Amino acid sequence: MENTLALVTGGTGGLGTAICRALSDAGHTVIANYFTGLREQAMQWQQQQAADGYKFALAEGDVSDFDDCARLVAAIENQHGCIDVLINNAGITRDGTLKNLSKQKWDEVISTNLNSVFYMTKQVIEGMMDRGYGRIINISSVNGQRGQFGQGNYSAAKAGVHGFSMAAAQEGARKGVTVNSISPGYVATEMVMAMRPDVIDHITNEVPVGRLGEPWEVARVAVFLASKDSSYITGADMYINGGLYMH
Ligand SMILES: NC(=O)c1ccc[n+]([C@@H]2O[C@H](COP(=O)([O-])OP(=O)(O)OC[C@H]3O[C@@H](n4cnc5c(N)ncnc54)[C@H](OP(=O)(O)O)[C@@H]3O)[C@@H](O)[C@H]2O)c1
Repeated sequence: MENTLALVTGGTGGLGTAICRALSDAGHTVIANYFTGLREQAMQWQQQQAADGYKFALAEGDVSDFDDCARLVAAIENQHGCIDVLINNAGITRDGTLKNLSKQKWDEVISTNLNSVFYMTKQVIEGMMDRGYGRIINISSVNGQRGQFGQGNYSAAKAGVHGFSMAAAQEGARKGVTVNSISPGYVATEMVMAMRPDVIDHITNEVPVGRLGEPWEVARVAVFLASKDSSYITGADMYINGGLYMH
C-alpha cells in the first residue's frame, strides 16, 4: 500500500471523484480541492463519499489564481504535512469557433486548464525534489493531441499541459520526482454528458471501442502513475481514449 499525501485539484468533479477514490483504495491519504465559494456543495460531496466508506479532507481554492495556489498549498502543508502526489485535474470548457471565441473564454480556459498546472506545480515541486520523492500527474486531453473544432482555447491549453509536463519531468528526473500527463478521450462525466445527445452519439460512433470511457478507467492509470512502481515513467503522455487517437 502507498502511504503518501495526495492532493487532487477539482477533486469533487467527475474524474476527480474517481481519482480520489482510487487513490484512497491504494492507501494514499487524499485531499480534494474544490473551487472557491462552493463549500456547501463540497461538504455534501464529502458526506456522500463518507457514506460510501471514503474519508477525504477538503481544501478550498481557485487554481487559476497564483496567490491562491500558494495559500492553498501552505494551508494543506500546515495541517496535513508535505504533499507527495499532486494531481492537476481541475479544468473547464468554454467552447466556441474562432469567430465566436471571445478573449474572455480564451483567458478563462488558459488560466484554469494551463496556468493552474504551473501555479500548483510551482508550489510543490521544490519540496518534492528536496525530499527526493514526488509524483505529479497532469490531466490533459485527446483534444490537446489532435485539436478539436470549436475548442481552440481548450486544445491549446491541453497541448500546453503536456509540453509543460515534459519540461518539468526533466527538472525532476534526477531527484525522484516524475511528471506525466494523462490524455483521456471522452469519459462519461457531467462535462461530457452536458453535450447534446446527438453529439455524444456521433462521438461514440467515432471511438473504436464503441463507447465512452468510464471515470475509473482513467483513475486507475492515475493511481499507477502516482505509485512508487511507476518510477521509470516520466515525461510521458498516457492515452486513454478507446482508440480514438493513436500516435
Ligand atoms: N470528461 C472527459 O471526457 C474529459 C476528457 C479529457 C479531459 N478531461 C479533463 O479531465 C479533468 C476533469 O474533468 P471532468 O470531466 O471531471 O469535469 P468536471 O466534473 O467539471 O470536473 C472539473 C472540476 O474542476 C473544478 N474547477 C474548475 N475550475 C476550478 C478552479 N479555478 N479551481 C479549482 N477547481 C476548479 C470544477 O469545479 P466546479 O464544477 O464545482 O466549479 C470541477 O470540480 C479536466 O481537466 C478535463 O479537462 C475530461
